[in-house]
Amino acid sequence: MKNAYVVYCSPAGSTGHVARVIVDELASRSVAVTEFDLGAGQDPAPLVKQLAAAGEADCLFVGSPVYRNLAVPPVMDFINSLQATKGCRAVPFITWGAASSGVALWQMGHAFSDKAYPIVGAAKVLGLHSLMWYSDDPVGKGHPDAADDAMVRGLVGDVIARMADGKALDLAVLDYQRGGQRRGKEDDRPAWTNIPKSVDADKCTACGACVPVCPVGAVSLDPTPVFGPSCIGCFNCLRECPEAAIVSGMPLEKLEAMIRGRVATLNETPPTQIFG
Ligand SMILES: Cc1cc2nc3c(=O)[nH]c(=O)nc-3n(C[C@H](O)[C@H](O)[C@H](O)COP(=O)(O)O)c2cc1C
Ligand code: SF4
Ligand code: SF4
Repeated sequence: MKNAYVVYCSPAGSTGHVARVIVDELASRSVAVTEFDLGAGQDPAPLVKQLAAAGEADCLFVGSPVYRNLAVPPVMDFINSLQATKGCRAVPFITWGAASSGVALWQMGHAFSDKAYPIVGAAKVLGLHSLMWYSDDPVGKGHPDAADDAMVRGLVGDVIARMADGKALDLAVLDYQRGGQRRGKEDDRPAWTNIPKSVDADKCTACGACVPVCPVGAVSLDPTPVFGPSCIGCFNCLRECPEAAIVSGMPLEKLEAMIRGRVATLNETPPTQIFG
């Protein structure tokens, strides 16, 4: 592998952690790496242009958290914005919160395939459930951990070997979810419905701390926060507010009970898996 690009969205940090492990492993193998955080407010258009010139010795890693079984919109928008490739390879990776990894990998893999990017590996990595940050015993506690990191480093080795062999991964391996968790391809982009949030005007000091933590630039002050239509429901603004002035429309206890119920019922294994 000559050049690698590691692109991700990570509101709560787990996907970014995996991305950094990938970057570190690639760098240790003397691969030139470009890292791009889709949630940092920079326009990805110059990177998309650069990728149009990437060839068979180059590889694009793209990471997303799983939200309601799917990859998040900034990640899908990025993949869907890619131009015709000169043979660049692709590796989708996801972090999930132990409820269900859904069809996010499958969805990303097919979006890459639509752009004629051959898939040369993929990973599903268990992460702390980002809607349970306040809990002493959150689902996915401690993940990604050292064992997860070691598996991710192994993915990088597998990908380099696969590229040297000129082989691609069969997309069918990403279709590992069955029954109720599976969705048809036509359902890739459902209307994105978020848990509504409100602002307690008595608590809000209009300090603006909730503005820069939004990965999609959806918060503006007027003079208290207003949430725009691009909101993906990550709850960064809510958890970072120093006054606890942003309130979830669904009580957090109810949300937690729902998540724990899904964890118990779905019991998806293995928690971390490398497809290579
Ligand atoms: C709105 C929302 C929806 C989520 N939906 C799921 C889900 O369907 N299945 C799951 O296992 N985890 C789900 N999670 C948990 C995240 O996938 C998990 O915590 C992930 O590691 C977060 O990545 P990040 O730390 O990079 O933001 C959800 C989290 C949020 C905020
Ligand atoms: S971080 Fe909290 S207190 Fe500050 S502007 Fe946002 S909602 Fe108001
Ligand atoms: S407005 Fe809040 S919940 Fe919505 S994407 Fe931004 S930080 Fe996340």
